[in-house]
Amino acid sequence: MAATVETPAAGTRAGESRPSASPSLFSPIRLGRMQLPHRVVMAPLTRSRARQPGNVPSPLNACYYTQRASAALIVSEATQVSMQGQGYAWTPGIHSQEQVQGWRLVTDAVHAAGGRIFLQLWHVGRISHPSLQPDFMPPIAPSAVKPQGKAFIENDLGEGELVPFVTPRALQLEEMPYLVRQYERGARNALKAGFDGVEVHGANGYLLDQFLCSGTNRRTDEYGGTPERRARLLLEVVDAVAAVWGADAMGVRLSPLSQYNDIRDDDPLATFTYAVRELNARGLAYLHLVNPAASAIERGAPPEPAALQMLERLRETWKGLLVLAGGFDARSAEQWIREGRADLIAFGRKFIANPDLPARLRDEAGLNGDDPATYYGGGQKGYTDYLSLAQQRGDVPKECVDESWR
Ligand SMILES: Cc1cc2nc3c(=O)[nH]c(=O)nc-3n(C[C@H](O)[C@H](O)[C@H](O)COP(=O)(O)O)c2cc1C
Repeated sequence: MAATVETPAAGTRAGESRPSASPSLFSPIRLGRMQLPHRVVMAPLTRSRARQPGNVPSPLNACYYTQRASAALIVSEATQVSMQGQGYAWTPGIHSQEQVQGWRLVTDAVHAAGGRIFLQLWHVGRISHPSLQPDFMPPIAPSAVKPQGKAFIENDLGEGELVPFVTPRALQLEEMPYLVRQYERGARNALKAGFDGVEVHGANGYLLDQFLCSGTNRRTDEYGGTPERRARLLLEVVDAVAAVWGADAMGVRLSPLSQYNDIRDDDPLATFTYAVRELNARGLAYLHLVNPAASAIERGAPPEPAALQMLERLRETWKGLLVLAGGFDARSAEQWIREGRADLIAFGRKFIANPDLPARLRDEAGLNGDDPATYYGGGQKGYTDYLSLAQQRGDVPKECVDESWR
């Protein structure tokens, strides 16, 4: 594990993870076993550029992450823990030996550049399609509730295509331990691949969120009904991953109030307060929230009352480090850190377009704009060809190996 320093951050008392002094976006912070130089995190970002066949990370992916190694912490793109866990064309996995070796290229390169990287462990549940599943089987879910919207698959011509979701198969109670084992294997493989830790993807309408939220979970067994039962799978997965990594080398991502991937909950305050209270008891390195106030922040408007209430409740319930993502710029990130509403800020789209984002935020330099047309799939274009400040001033960009990505 690279870049771990065993000294408490300025303003942090030994044995207490949340800093007490008034911090800024650029004050150092201790996160689990690691000392971070600042608080600008790279959010997990699916880019659908794993090598094919086999969804294997490649030297091109290593180049992309290395360019972004000045992040306080990189959270990798969501990475399926099993073939069944895949929901989009060309996303990387962490279930085969080849994938472990591919990820090793990434972690070694990021560490050589002085960075730190966690792997985001992912199972999409119903947000998939038979063409992405083993033997064209239907995707699995807590209940047979079809999502609105479309899946991103590879068509017969080898191109990306959006096709309507199908009705998923509801999991049998007997299958539940095997799902937990998929995450556990992913966690073990992430350890072998040289990551500094892992983040359990409990957000954005994927499997764990589908169990957590009442709109997608109609079960009447011990995995459905009350918040306690709906949070059971999430907590079982967290415990299995913690047994591999230690709780202080892992985080969990949740997205309260989000409707992304057709998710909804009848009583989100009760559901998420329960889940976060349980997670709090486990001593994780951090909780990562997709900010329910993201769109308001982005517009420069005050957050909606429900979003504010959720944020305040979860900040109060969660005693450890809080990472918030969604809609931030340099000013709002600084303000939210100073006001103690978050400990670290994760940036998504701005990190896609600005490999040296922390330096640009610190120096109040201009930002490159991101191009949504090149988010998913393809090679270097819109991936490793965004320039750093130094390159914009004349430095020659380092060559990335652009071996065929499929
Ligand atoms: C292209 C793209 C891919 C994303 N992939 C993931 C992902 O793999 N896992 C995840 O938890 N969130 C994912 N997100 C959400 C981001 O992590 C982040 O929460 C979101 O972009 C809001 O932050 P921003 O306003 O700074 O972009 C993705 C977002 C974008 C734009």
